[in-house]
Order: sequence, then C-alpha cells, then structure tokens
Amino acid sequence: MRVLLPDLPEFRALSEHDEGGVPGVTFDHYSRTHVPDGPADGVVLWLVGGDTRTRLLRTPGLKWVLTLTAGIEHVQGHLPPEVALFNASRLHDRAVAVHALSGMLAAARGLHRFRDAQARAHWDAPALPGHSALTTLDDRHVVLWGYGHIGRHLEDLLRPLGAHVHGIRSATPSAERDELLAQADWVVLLLPSTPDTRGIVGAPVLAHLKRGAWLVNVGRGNLIDTGALVDALTDGHLGGAVLDVTDPEPLPGPHPLWHLPNVILTPHVASTTTDLVPRGAQLTRDFLIDLQQGHEPEGRVTPGRPY
Ligand code: GLV
Repeated sequence: MRVLLPDLPEFRALSEHDEGGVPGVTFDHYSRTHVPDGPADGVVLWLVGGDTRTRLLRTPGLKWVLTLTAGIEHVQGHLPPEVALFNASRLHDRAVAVHALSGMLAAARGLHRFRDAQARAHWDAPALPGHSALTTLDDRHVVLWGYGHIGRHLEDLLRPLGAHVHGIRSATPSAERDELLAQADWVVLLLPSTPDTRGIVGAPVLAHLKRGAWLVNVGRGNLIDTGALVDALTDGHLGGAVLDVTDPEPLPGPHPLWHLPNVILTPHVASTTTDLVPRGAQLTRDFLIDLQQGHEPEGRVTPGRPY
C-alpha cells in the first residue's frame, strides 16, 4: 500500500525502522511545493490548502483519504464516490471542548473586560463589568448545538460546574430545538459546515435567543450570519460572543467584531495543542495498522471501499 503523508519530521519518522514502520506500507511525502507523482492507495491530508490539496485529491488509484481535521467541508464533494473519507475528530475533541469552556469561564468572570482595562493601566470603573455581570455557570442552561464527540467532552466539563446541559442533534425536532434555544443562557455551536448548516444562526434565531444570552462558536464561521450577529451584539440583545471561527476568516482589519467589548476572539486555534502534530502522526500510524489488519479504522464519514 502506498500512502502520501505530510512532509513533517513526525510523519517521516513513521517509515523509519527504529520506529517500527508500518509493515506493508510505503510512504511518500508531500509539501506545499511538492506533490509526488504516480498512483497511491491513500492520502493523509493535513496543513495544505488550495492547489496542493486539489492535486492530492486527484491522485490516481486513490481508495481512501484521512483528513486529520474534524471538519470535512474542504474534502467532501471533491472526491469520487468510491473513495472513502475519514476524519480525525478524536484528535481535536478534548482541546476544542476545553477551549469553548475557557471562553465561557473567561466571559462569565469578565476577564476580557478586566484585560481591556489592564491595557489602559487603570481600573476604569465605567468600562468594567458591574458586579451583576460577574457570574458562574451554576444553574445556567447551556445548549450544545451539534452533539457529537466534542459535545460530550464539553458536557463532562460543564456538569461539575453546575450547568444544565442540553444537546441539539440534527434529528432534534424543530419545536424542541426552538424551545431549548429560547431558554439558553449559552449556545455553543459545534456544528460542521454543510449546505444545511451554513447561515443557520441568522437574525431570526438570534432574535429568538433570550436577552443577554452568549453565543460561542468553535464550529465554523459560516454557521452564523455575521451582519446579524454584529447587530445583536451592538443593540445589547446578546450578552456577548466567544468566537474561535468567523466569517470572513481571517477577519479583515476594519471589521466591527474586532472592536466590540463583549466579544472574545481567537484565531481558529481551538484544537491547537503543543503535541498536536505528534498526536496526528500517532493517529495516522494506528489508522494504517487498522487498515493493514483488515479492521475498520475510526472516523469513517462517507462510504467507499477503503481496502
Ligand atoms: C479544525 O477546525 C478542524 O476541523 O480540525
């Protein structure tokens, strides 16, 4: 089996004998500037975009693609039906859940406002959160919109903090979904970007949320209608937003989201950890061993014939 991997030391180590290699697998490595020629059985896709990705997905003889991301929108729809697609949610779920929780706790304790005041070297009373704005998550209703691996991790983190956690799945009837959203103190978006979810949080959904609710987005920026979000944040309907992803992404310099005091922005880093690349290489090795032993690897998202 010939497999194309990212050209990173951790992935090169997979083929070294002292690491044990993976019996029956030969590796070739691609980078932003080099895509190996010839047929391959599989591609492990990571950290490349644009033309390189398009060329990799057109590799002759391809049976499967493993994307080491949780999201699959950059691959799905670009593969012939006989090519199986796998993702790597488990590489990311813990960090994304921790990131979402960190944003919520920072917001609940007003840390973003104190940090803004700190930058002015003055506890500038009018700009600081009032005592009534400093909360905990006790008895707060948290709605996880998208309830898969990440949602379950986040739920496990939230329950000991006293939050009431509710999950919305694609199968949740719309009346039940609307009822949950209307009572939420926090709505956490964990959805993938698909034709059905793009723009799902538009002006009507935002208006339906309780006044003062906070929105957290660690899914994809285009789940939200950004103009409607800015309006809801500016007119005070929403309490605030924690956004790891935005639309557009990256945000252009003059964008209003940079300047709203009730917004906490991070640059799409929710899943980043110092050991992400070695963990990605280890997941790849486990995946290849499963394939070689005739087991179905974790993370299958579309049918196709991987073996
Ligand atoms: C990151 O956003 C991912 O999809 O893994």
